Amino acid sequence: MQEINHVAVLDFGSQYTQLIVRRVRELGYFAKLYALEDFPNIGKPGAIILSGGPKSTSEPDAPDLDFEALKGFGVPVLGVCYGMQLLNIKFGGSVKASNRREYGPATLVPGESSGLYEGVSKDSQVWMSHSDTVENLPACAVVIAANQHGTPVSLKWGESFYGIQFHPEVTHSHEGNRILHNFLLTAGELEPFHIEDFKRELIEGIKQTVGSKQVVCGVSGGVDSTVLAVLLHEAGVNVRAIYVDHGLMRKDETAEVQNNFHRMGVEIETIDASERFLGALAGVADPEAKRKIIGELFIDTFWDAVGDAEMLAQGTLYPDVIESASNAKSKASKIKTHHNRVDRILELQAQGKVLEPLAELFKDEVRALGASLGIAHDILWRHPFPGPGLAVRCPGDITKEKLDIIRECDAIFIGKLKEHGWYEKVWQAYAGLIPVKTVGVKGDERSYEWSTNLRAVVSDDAMTADWVELPSQILRETSNRILNEVRGINRVLYDISTKPPASIEWE
Ligand code: XMP
Repeated sequence: MQEINHVAVLDFGSQYTQLIVRRVRELGYFAKLYALEDFPNIGKPGAIILSGGPKSTSEPDAPDLDFEALKGFGVPVLGVCYGMQLLNIKFGGSVKASNRREYGPATLVPGESSGLYEGVSKDSQVWMSHSDTVENLPACAVVIAANQHGTPVSLKWGESFYGIQFHPEVTHSHEGNRILHNFLLTAGELEPFHIEDFKRELIEGIKQTVGSKQVVCGVSGGVDSTVLAVLLHEAGVNVRAIYVDHGLMRKDETAEVQNNFHRMGVEIETIDASERFLGALAGVADPEAKRKIIGELFIDTFWDAVGDAEMLAQGTLYPDVIESASNAKSKASKIKTHHNRVDRILELQAQGKVLEPLAELFKDEVRALGASLGIAHDILWRHPFPGPGLAVRCPGDITKEKLDIIRECDAIFIGKLKEHGWYEKVWQAYAGLIPVKTVGVKGDERSYEWSTNLRAVVSDDAMTADWVELPSQILRETSNRILNEVRGINRVLYDISTKPPASIEWE
């Protein structure tokens, strides 16, 4: 996208910075995150937001920025948390350092006459996460909002510099979006963010970068890689979409993925590597060892199929980009321990031959892009499925027999969720295996068989998750069918563990 009249968000390191970008885009404007080192090379923004950050302005290595350059843009600036404290210092005020942290809700009491709080209710909840506070205010500063104790939580310096101590970008700040929107209204015309425009620009960009070269991409049937492949196809690229079947897919999944792509007019090359994977995994029970085997074999299988690639496309999303930028050091050291095939990707990257067209998008935006490319709703709203597939749902060693049992139980459970209209209400659901034999009765005989665990969770980002109180009818129908139809299972358990301390997957 053009970096003109957009909203530039400067990253001072807060865990919430990405959310600011996201909120601005939800409000319909194009926003982009910049590392502090890039400042002032941030295009020609129409508004600038300084994010929060973990440091104290009093620390010797506290992040700083060129204030003259910031003023030089001549556009409205909003400092959030650390950003507000920094602005107060720049305008000649001071900040009081503190070891005590205020974390949690506060009540916002807006002042009488500020555009920033136009239409915001008098006792709105806002979310605080800070230690330091502004202390002395410079002559040009006006307090535009306080908390319930009368402590200033929002300032305005001069005509177009604003500061807020709380985090408008988190949902716990109930009217945060309105406050951000009010700030953006103080700017001149801002670049709108419409997924249709974005799609056109992406396609144009891809055409120019790729020309007549062949582009290879891996597809899994998941949302990101599907949108990527269809986007490349739509851009008229000579694309080779490679799907590696590692034998750890769900019931009928490979056929479904093939069929889905066929419907969309994109042919995929299926590499059936299931025997290779199951052979390598035979007798391996340690979860980390299993992941390592699968990860390495996957890369090998993929590159064996690729041969010589002119260009590679990856479905990297915006959160991945930000994560890898902030973990640049640890990432570099991790990659070394990996694999020579990973080096090949890095080599291609260095040559500018890796295409990441989705790298500016969040997941929901990828879905919107997918919808505008005509991808079917059920493909775009599939539950996340882990790269190592059913291996993370099969504790202990993996055998084809165990995988087949999981596939049957899972298909029954997911089918029931769909039938009762619950599939899209949950973030992720599956049936796994508990490979412990317990006693039961089947027909006239005693059985001695394994159990299956059903798991259904809600989550925003998979970092935390809660189990779902499914209607007992769904659980009952699922259990009845599994116990009647799946040989090898005589017990069905429902997992009622939150994450943390449990994880979503079992391995
Ligand atoms: P956990 O089990 O860590 O899972 O709570 C969080 C989310 O990540 C998915 N997951 C993975 N995805 N490779 C992946 O691509 C993996 O190794 C992996 N492990 C977990 C999991 O399905 C959930 O959505």
